[in-house]
Amino acid sequence: MDSPELQQARSRAAEFGIPAISPATGATLRTLAATLQAKTVVEVGTGAGVAALYLLAGMAPQGVLTTIDVEAEHQRQAKASFKASGIAPGRTRTILGRPGEVLPRLADSAYDLVLVAEWPEQLAEHVEQGLRLLRPGGVLAITNALWHDQVPDPARRDEPVTALRRIFARIREDESLAPVLLPVGSGLLVASKLR
Ligand SMILES: C[S@@+](CC[C@H](N)C(=O)[O-])C[C@H]1O[C@@H](n2cnc3c(N)ncnc32)[C@H](O)[C@@H]1O
Repeated sequence: MDSPELQQARSRAAEFGIPAISPATGATLRTLAATLQAKTVVEVGTGAGVAALYLLAGMAPQGVLTTIDVEAEHQRQAKASFKASGIAPGRTRTILGRPGEVLPRLADSAYDLVLVAEWPEQLAEHVEQGLRLLRPGGVLAITNALWHDQVPDPARRDEPVTALRRIFARIREDESLAPVLLPVGSGLLVASKLR
């Protein structure tokens, strides 16, 4: 069950037509952040800040979430959600811009968790950047990884379904990663960086 603050953030997302992760996906991300005792997290696709609130709830108290989105209005709503939830301003770094331009500026091996939300056209590029950012032992997560349950359907051959299949294969074949596809929400791909 979402807290009143999360319910408010979800209402804000719905009001502005911004997609948000399911409560089960959020709870899984919160658990991952807590298990990692995450101090540094990057989120690609801020939306209205719903996923961010789950991540912040699991992260170490002094942890900082860097979140990137190209939509100023979405980030305005996210900031309102952070404020309403009592998140200290220093715990979030919201960056307005295209992830393809922002991610290359972030440091190698400096992050505990990278969450990539949607952005199908550039997903492969964001995954590569995300893996570069992770420290050994860090975790990459991709939400909506089954793309509304279309990825397992062999009749679907359009983008972004094929892009996701290629990303799954790339991650599966990489011996430095330990991946699992969790059937929460519309699929949550989680991959630990072993080294
Ligand atoms: C699904 S929402 C993020 C939701 C958020 N992670 C959550 O669950 O609360 C995806 C966000 O990424 C941005 N986005 C995704 N794909 C995009 C694209 N191709 N071009 C521009 N913005 C995109 C949207 O602005 C939107 O805010």
